[in-house]
Amino acid sequence: MTNTSSKQLDGRVAIITGAAGGLGAIFAGVLAREGAAVVVSDIIPCDGTVETIVQAGGQAICVTADVSTEADMTALARAAEEAFGGIDILINNAGLFANLRMMGMEEISPDLWDKVMAVNVKGPYLATRAVLPAMRRAGYGKVIHLSSGMGIKGAVDYLHYATSKSAIIGMTRSMARELGPSGIRVNCVAPGLTDTDAIRNHGDWQGDRRANNIAGRAISRAAMPEDIAGTVVYLASTASDFVTGQTVVVDGGSAMV
Ligand SMILES: NC(=O)c1ccc[n+]([C@@H]2O[C@H](COP(=O)([O-])OP(=O)(O)OC[C@H]3O[C@@H](n4cnc5c(N)ncnc54)[C@H](O)[C@@H]3O)[C@@H](O)[C@H]2O)c1
Repeated sequence: MTNTSSKQLDGRVAIITGAAGGLGAIFAGVLAREGAAVVVSDIIPCDGTVETIVQAGGQAICVTADVSTEADMTALARAAEEAFGGIDILINNAGLFANLRMMGMEEISPDLWDKVMAVNVKGPYLATRAVLPAMRRAGYGKVIHLSSGMGIKGAVDYLHYATSKSAIIGMTRSMARELGPSGIRVNCVAPGLTDTDAIRNHGDWQGDRRANNIAGRAISRAAMPEDIAGTVVYLASTASDFVTGQTVVVDGGSAMV
């Protein structure tokens, strides 16, 4: 597909899950600024994200939906098609992260394990499955998953989270192989620790742990959501049309793969 506009995503329709705040809200704003009509979704109301986009002259709607529920994902895809006539881009950003406490593996209950997998692994699968009819019809699509540096390097006291984010890297590869013949590109972004409001106030990410995390980077400074957004735009745009099945690490050079 050729895009002759100066904006990288003009005419595109993008769904961003988990976009009430944090990284997702920034991704939604940046995609809208690049010309995409955005469907902002979250399990909690996401009107604030939509208002910011609309006030800046962009197009956005909010759909409240739980990524771990098949019916909600079907309804989300339907709402996007009804509002904007198709679905070109899906950003599988929703996840359990800032709400999780660090704990040893004996302390992680099997119920909590299931909950993390339901949102962080089953969620991206269900959301992708729901947008496939629209993307297959178009013969084109961009699916972008969110993994994490912890999914690559491993992490102490985060077995549930780190395992879920390693699974996303495998999911990216298998989806890319299965969906490539339909023109659907599937890639993954793996950020390092990034300063959202929730992370800035997270008890487990203060003091030495935060300092050591930053010290391990070749570019040794805190990451802001905007540091991650450029890679998301690239993977959503035609500039990356020959890239699929890849995980791009955006962490200032901490994990080098
Ligand atoms: N911030 C970081 O340091 C960092 C680093 C690496 C990867 N990530 C990943 O990036 C993504 C966004 O990170 P964040 O820090 O903004 O996360 P966050 O935990 O602050 O926010 C995630 C969003 O997902 C929503 N959500 C939770 N459960 C949901 C469900 N069942 N259905 C729909 N929405 C749901 C939450 O309401 C929230 O708005 C996550 O997938 C996270 O794992 C974040």
